[in-house]
Amino acid sequence: MKWKRKRIRAIRAGVEDTFGHRISYLRISVTDRCNERCAYCMPGELREWLPREEVLSFEEIGRVVGVAAALGVRKVRVTGGEPLTRREIPRLFEMLAEIPGIEEIGVSTNGTLLGQGTNGVTMARALRARGVRSVNISLDTLDRADYAAVTGRDYLPRVREGIDAAQAAGFESIRLNAVLVRGRSEKTILPLLDFALERRLLLRFIELMPVSDRDVLSEENFFPVRAAMRRIEEEHGALMPEPGFRTNGPASYYQVAGRDQRVGFIGAMTDFHFCESCDKLRLTCDGKLRPCLGSHLEFDLRGPLRDGATDGDLREIFRGVVARKPKEHDFRGAYEPGRRMVAIGG
Ligand code: 5AD
Ligand code: SF4
Repeated sequence: MKWKRKRIRAIRAGVEDTFGHRISYLRISVTDRCNERCAYCMPGELREWLPREEVLSFEEIGRVVGVAAALGVRKVRVTGGEPLTRREIPRLFEMLAEIPGIEEIGVSTNGTLLGQGTNGVTMARALRARGVRSVNISLDTLDRADYAAVTGRDYLPRVREGIDAAQAAGFESIRLNAVLVRGRSEKTILPLLDFALERRLLLRFIELMPVSDRDVLSEENFFPVRAAMRRIEEEHGALMPEPGFRTNGPASYYQVAGRDQRVGFIGAMTDFHFCESCDKLRLTCDGKLRPCLGSHLEFDLRGPLRDGATDGDLREIFRGVVARKPKEHDFRGAYEPGRRMVAIGG
């Protein structure tokens, strides 16, 4: 029986960090560019995009994902900036879907481009046809003027079209993500909840994280998930926790009383269990592997990739990054925003 146990262990292996998290999820930022300008993600002042040659090519991304998959990564999520602004992005999904071991492909988008397309084929349909299973769409408010104020662009009608297009394309999962900001969220929480119910979409509220300018992330702007829950409970009665329900990330889910609706909360700042089951690494668009969103640790893969590293070399780097994965993020400590969210990919 001894050999049998050993084999099972080998199959389950994957790469484990020092806290016993088996790394199975890679978030891939494919661009730092975005067609919107959310203040909490990107500072409003004039800024420059990374020069094209500093951004990984699809082939380079494919190689990293191949190595990650060989080490146990099963799920990838493509993010940005706005990933759908990258030219020929459907081709990347086609490549990812062919990598052995990759079982789940998702994308996080602001939704503005999902309903756009050529020859009557929407971007949403093009992605679905290439194996994308889940789409996360950022939507902070349903009020057009408010949306323009948050994102710097008057694109709410396009996002609504994008949501329609995603629903028509038949993804297995479509989620709405709303970032909580004091002064705005008070009036957007209930309308978003109603909209999500009406459209049968899973809505999650996310606490603001200190990844952009410090002034944007002042104490006055912070709106804890607790307060969002209270707002919902005032209207609908007690939220019932669903500890058994999990998606890939750190969200906690609750059932809305009297409704057939579940709502999620991502308490990045106030939930002390937030990092407990983190199985994620991040690849920045310029080819750095990051063990944690809320830590400045990052390790360069682009240099080795372009200097002829073997898959074995890349596996070693990958293992090294996993070994340095911190126990939890440092947002509550002395963290100072370094890279903007837009360059890390949420
Ligand atoms: N805090 C929390 N969430 C953020 N996002 C962008 N910037 C921040 C921030 N500072 C979210 C977007 C999107 C996801 C990719 O990250 O709204 O839902
Ligand atoms: Fe663009 Fe999303 Fe950042 Fe807003 S949060 S600027 S939509 S990447």
